[in-house]
Amino acid sequence: MNAIEALHMRTSAPRLCEPAPTRPMLDSICRSALSAADHGLLKPWRFLIIKGESRNRLGDLFLEASMRLDPQTSKEKQESIRKKPLRAPIILITISKHSAHPKIPEFEQDLSAAAATQNMLTAAFAQGIGAIWRTGAMAYNKTVIDGLGLAKNEKIIGFLYLGTIDGPPKPLKQTDLDEFFQEW
Ligand SMILES: Cc1cc2nc3c(=O)[nH]c(=O)nc-3n(C[C@H](O)[C@H](O)[C@H](O)COP(=O)(O)O)c2cc1C
Repeated sequence: MNAIEALHMRTSAPRLCEPAPTRPMLDSICRSALSAADHGLLKPWRFLIIKGESRNRLGDLFLEASMRLDPQTSKEKQESIRKKPLRAPIILITISKHSAHPKIPEFEQDLSAAAATQNMLTAAFAQGIGAIWRTGAMAYNKTVIDGLGLAKNEKIIGFLYLGTIDGPPKPLKQTDLDEFFQEW
């Protein structure tokens, strides 16, 4: 698939299964993050790769965070929270990493890390790999942030779930340029 096709046709895949992308495919997804637009070339990002047993450790962290928020969480809900990272064979966590800069606010550094995440979504799609960007309460939870080892100048931008697409492909999006683009 060429780049324009991937950009025009990309959709997320909420249901993912094994097998995981191969190492060369994963490397090419990761490499695509690093060409994101980046004001001042600050490289305001880093990424954690969660796979195999680490997904259970992440699930335990999600559960710990949720139990701190609500110790009354039902057993059924606890199990569903703990299993969330098992929804895909690999999860990439995008972390924005802020540097103090007189002209480049933290917001722009977050935008670059988001652009890097979008690049990875498109790179996955172009290779036939299913992907979905998720956040949810866990992305902003202090127990999770500390448990993943983020520094004070870091923030979770998203969890990028990657794997084999499970189920039928999503229908193509309808695009109406005039709805979003007007001459000024
Ligand atoms: C910052 C961000 C956070 C998101 N968080 C979630 C999420 O937690 N759960 C979810 O189902 N979709 C989430 N989404 C939306 C999906 O990634 C996806 O874009 C959406 O379902 C639309 O599907 P599409 O990408 O195929 O158009 C998020 C998207 C962004 C950009």
